[in-house]
Amino acid sequence: MLPFEDYQDKPQTYVKHFFLENYLERLAYNIFNSKRPSIDFAYIDGFSGPWRSDAENYNDTSFAIALKTLKKIKRQSFRPGASKSLRCLFVESNPKSFADLKGFLSTVKGADCEPINDEFETAVDKIAGFVGNAFSFCFIDPTGFKDLPMNSLKPILDLPGEFLINFMYTFINKHLTNEDDDTRGQMDDLFGGGNWREKIAEKRNEGLEREDAIIETYCERLKQVGKVKYVTSTRVLFGTADRTYFYLVYGTNHQKGLVEFRKVESRTVEEQEKVRNILKYEQRAKRVGTDDLFAPLAAPISARQRSFDELRGRNLDKMEQKIRNLVRLGPCVYEKCLDALELPYVWEADIKEILKVMQQSDVIELRHKNPRGRVATYGTVIVPK
Ligand SMILES: C[S@@+](CC[C@H](N)C(=O)[O-])C[C@H]1O[C@@H](n2cnc3c(N)ncnc32)[C@H](O)[C@@H]1O
Repeated sequence: MLPFEDYQDKPQTYVKHFFLENYLERLAYNIFNSKRPSIDFAYIDGFSGPWRSDAENYNDTSFAIALKTLKKIKRQSFRPGASKSLRCLFVESNPKSFADLKGFLSTVKGADCEPINDEFETAVDKIAGFVGNAFSFCFIDPTGFKDLPMNSLKPILDLPGEFLINFMYTFINKHLTNEDDDTRGQMDDLFGGGNWREKIAEKRNEGLEREDAIIETYCERLKQVGKVKYVTSTRVLFGTADRTYFYLVYGTNHQKGLVEFRKVESRTVEEQEKVRNILKYEQRAKRVGTDDLFAPLAAPISARQRSFDELRGRNLDKMEQKIRNLVRLGPCVYEKCLDALELPYVWEADIKEILKVMQQSDVIELRHKNPRGRVATYGTVIVPK
């Protein structure tokens, strides 16, 4: 994808595309190198654009980035005798954007591409038909919150694959408690009905921040409505303000996907912080005047926003508690512990670390598959003492 400098006034889009590209790379690698003799992969972009694109060949759009990444990984994955296909479906409702999208897709080689000029909500059954038995990844990236009624997403949530939804937190938060009937109805649709308001209130009473209560409730509702095994999220912040712009909400029935999601999240956190530090530096330099070279350094730029450390700390505590509770029930394999990766900003290395600490403090014994193994990994049996 293009470097950050080419996304000047849209740093959140850069971070979103960074995440998408890195995740698709891992997903496609795992799919196209799977041991199954034949595999079909269907990529769906439900709100394709182009939207605010100003790069040559639409290189700053999700559809161009996804296609380039998926085709590259498919080309590189070679297993004799294995048959694999890549088909992609792009939905866009705006006629002008659709015409541009269609023009671009007509030049694409190496993947079957189908554009649909429709509203995502009305296209869901067509999408499900297009996916069939393929493994699917559905990217759902609306501009607001009105076009995403959870119950109409059901055919997508039921697909044998994964999804990534842009939960437009800034707008949702702003309108969440609007009392006019239209907005109340749209919010009910977004959260898929149910008693979501009470759920948020309950979480607030338990001490959660409003923002955490909202995103947790949304993920839980998706899990219930779609009967998806894992639903989690990661945050994308404003360019310079220490506030959430949107969340990328991810659902999968595969633990391997969850592990990959968190790996990509950890890389994205670093990238996002790098970008935000540059932007903050530039903003400060502009404010104090560029000829005062030392002024920007006088007020240090935070290496990481405070709330990230708080959130990660809280989730690390929750992860530790989950693992201690799990181990108390009796021996279990390492893989069981990885379910704790549903907690945002908890990474696999954290799980290995807590298991090491528990071993050192004689709470558990680690029985490795490989007798020379030191660190818990796939196949390690954790035995309580
Ligand atoms: C945020 S933009 C997508 C950006 C794109 N995913 C990217 O990252 O490059 C949302 C797009 O969805 C289109 N759109 C809006 N409402 C829609 C709907 N109900 N169904 C399908 N497309 C819609 C808009 O015209 C716009 O192009």
